[in-house]
Amino acid sequence: MIVYRTKTDLTGHLLTLQNEGKTIGLVPTMGALHQGHMSLVEKARTENNFVVVTIFVNPTQFNDQSDLDHYPRTLDQDLELLRQLEADLVFVPSVKEMYPEEDMQIFDLGGLDKVMEGKHRQGHFNGVAQIVSKLFLLVHPHRAYFGQKDFQQLVIIRRLVEMMELDLTIVPCPIVREKDGLAMSSRNTMLNKEERKLAPFIYETLVKARGKMETLNPSQVKEWVILQFKKQSDLYLEYFEIVEDKGLMSIDEWDKEMNKVACLAVLLGEVRLIDNLNFD
Ligand code: PAJ
Repeated sequence: MIVYRTKTDLTGHLLTLQNEGKTIGLVPTMGALHQGHMSLVEKARTENNFVVVTIFVNPTQFNDQSDLDHYPRTLDQDLELLRQLEADLVFVPSVKEMYPEEDMQIFDLGGLDKVMEGKHRQGHFNGVAQIVSKLFLLVHPHRAYFGQKDFQQLVIIRRLVEMMELDLTIVPCPIVREKDGLAMSSRNTMLNKEERKLAPFIYETLVKARGKMETLNPSQVKEWVILQFKKQSDLYLEYFEIVEDKGLMSIDEWDKEMNKVACLAVLLGEVRLIDNLNFD
């Protein structure tokens, strides 16, 4: 497995592969890898000749300096995992390498970046678009792998690919969960013992909410979810929305023709967790 830290090394190596007609799969990550990330790499491994994984904690997508400072970093462990998964190349650039100058680029994400995560994390998706567009242009992958865990991000990346007119397939990958239902996340390691015990409540509530579809309309389900979290003083619900899966508009009736996804963000102590569930 090759590990590169500079763009020049990366593009030089990939050029040869591209000339040989090899298919390239890209898995962008911020490291602190867990089985969720691993599932993306495994899928990429089965579908491409060459798998590139990137590890970069992208500062421009953090709107909170302390969140960025506390983001877990476990590079040696990550590289060992990626070796076991037979990734071909890992790109681990520095901040200077990716942003030699301040990136002023503003992306028009068609309002997809203004709801849910976008509303609560100003500028977050512009930062994601900055780094992911750079990675797409550096690697020129045939396929890029993104988890449904970050559902809104996935929808926005699809939009970005359309806007950039890239010949690239975005491959969505299902959410990998712990046995008790908690969606795997690099942030889970930041939960203390008590918080970790409470965390499965998030997925349990999503599942129960889906069970209410027969008897309640979307806004009643929303009220019900808000109430469940109000009863749990240690968990603060930032938002809960049931949206259609293309434009991310909140729905007000159950339309069988529409793919519906319920999304939420929860603060558990200092740790912010997101999750979602298909409501079909
Ligand atoms: P990160 O949070 O490290 O996630 C990298 C990829 O792993 C994302 O596509 C994410 O959706 C996926 N992932 C995370 N947890 C998962 C789980 N439990 N099941 C399935 N997939 C999961 O998302 C980012 O990094 C960044 O925003 C990035 C796209 C790398 C841009 O900086």
